[in-house]
Amino acid sequence: MTTPAHVAIIMDGNGRWAKARGLPRLAGHRAGVEALRQSVKTASRLGIEWLTVYAFSSENWSRPPSEVSDLLGLLKLFIRRDLAELHRSGVRVRVIGERDDLQPDIRLLLEEAESLTAGNGALNLVIAFNYGGRDEIVRAMRKIAADVEAGRTSSASITPQTVSEALDTNGIPDPDLVIRTSGEMRLSNFLLWQAAYSELIFLPCLWPDFTPEQFEEALRQFSVRERRFGGRNERDVVSSSA
Ligand code: FPP
Repeated sequence: MTTPAHVAIIMDGNGRWAKARGLPRLAGHRAGVEALRQSVKTASRLGIEWLTVYAFSSENWSRPPSEVSDLLGLLKLFIRRDLAELHRSGVRVRVIGERDDLQPDIRLLLEEAESLTAGNGALNLVIAFNYGGRDEIVRAMRKIAADVEAGRTSSASITPQTVSEALDTNGIPDPDLVIRTSGEMRLSNFLLWQAAYSELIFLPCLWPDFTPEQFEEALRQFSVRERRFGGRNERDVVSSSA
């Protein structure tokens, strides 16, 4: 079975999970953190090199202030409680998204998570926090435009690689597989540039119900997909050139 090097997950459905149980949305997000912990362990066990999770989008600020504050609180708790354990298991944490307008305590925690685990090499956990694909592309364009203005490069020498290197994900391979739970079938501004050739798998289960077995099943589905990256498959090439 081909194991994807990079799996990215849109963890959707916490609110519906809570609603179905008559619980507050916070209970759904808490259960979502538990599913995230499990998924990190599963990814490590299965030899996945990169796991990116969409924890908080740049659009999530438009939720009611109490929910925003719950989500920020859960992120802080996750890092404070789980960082030592992640570090012990050799996980390297990286964070993508806009940091400049985050509260200083959150920024510090994210930086601490990255610097503490910088030397680890078992699994790279990429947390997309205050992340939006369009926002990331705009910030990348500004960096490139500044380089052009300063005469460090010219517009004619901009290539897809120039753009990739200006994104938050510089140095991170593109995701091979994007999984979204909760039955919604869209990318919702997640890794828009990077997911150009990713395989997409949409699962009906709500994020808190995402189990290691479902993770493994998604990987099985991935392993039978035929990836062509805009080219043709081997069989077509052989038959048409014969
Ligand atoms: C979508 O559920 C999920 C989110 C907005 C956030 C994902 C967050 C977690 C899994 C927990 C937090 C983890 C960290 C590390 C901060 P939804 O609320 O959109 O669910 P719904 O569509 O059913 O309402």
